[in-house]
Amino acid sequence: MIDCERYVKKVLLDEETIQRRVAELGAQISADYVDVDQLLLVCILKGGILFLSDLMRHIHVPHELDFIAVSSYGVGVRSSSHDVRIEKDLSIDISNKHLLIVEDIIDTGYTLDFVISMLRARSIQSLRLVTLLNKQARRVADIPLDYVGFHIDDHFVFGYGLDLDERCRQLPYVAVADLAALDRS
Ligand code: IMP
Ligand code: MG
Repeated sequence: MIDCERYVKKVLLDEETIQRRVAELGAQISADYVDVDQLLLVCILKGGILFLSDLMRHIHVPHELDFIAVSSYGVGVRSSSHDVRIEKDLSIDISNKHLLIVEDIIDTGYTLDFVISMLRARSIQSLRLVTLLNKQARRVADIPLDYVGFHIDDHFVFGYGLDLDERCRQLPYVAVADLAALDRS
């Protein structure tokens, strides 16, 4: 924790703000899916895990859970690329299910564009997306924004599931990274 705090330039969303918004999203999703059975939450690993675990405690309709892992090989570890690959596919049968993708952040949109096209090609009932963060400034692909926690400016952020070179996901808040401090370490 102490180590991670060295790289905090500014706390963008504190724990209370995040928890309040996650509860609101859960209530909205519960209301929207009240008549739906076969809801399946599809969490994109690894960044979505803290968001998922808090969000699902506010989803009061029956639902199942599954995970998908993707990687994108970009020019650097902090940038995305078009070359998205599936590292781990879903394990349960998704036919006839209503899918809700749970994602940490949408940046360029390449990752979700790939995941959404892949899932839409299967015989599902419906597909929506909930993202904790939306970084619209860098969007390239057109992504449907069904449920958004927070719209943020173009900063590299970490904490609450989002990593700083694979570390610091455990922070209960979202912070803007001090990349100069990280590069010095
Ligand atoms: P996209 O394909 O450019 O939309 O990027 C999506 C993925 O890149 C996200 O799911 C995150 O895992 C990662 N990512 C994008 N921006 C950030 C950030 O500011 N901090 C940490 N991870 C990020
Ligand atoms: Mg992600």
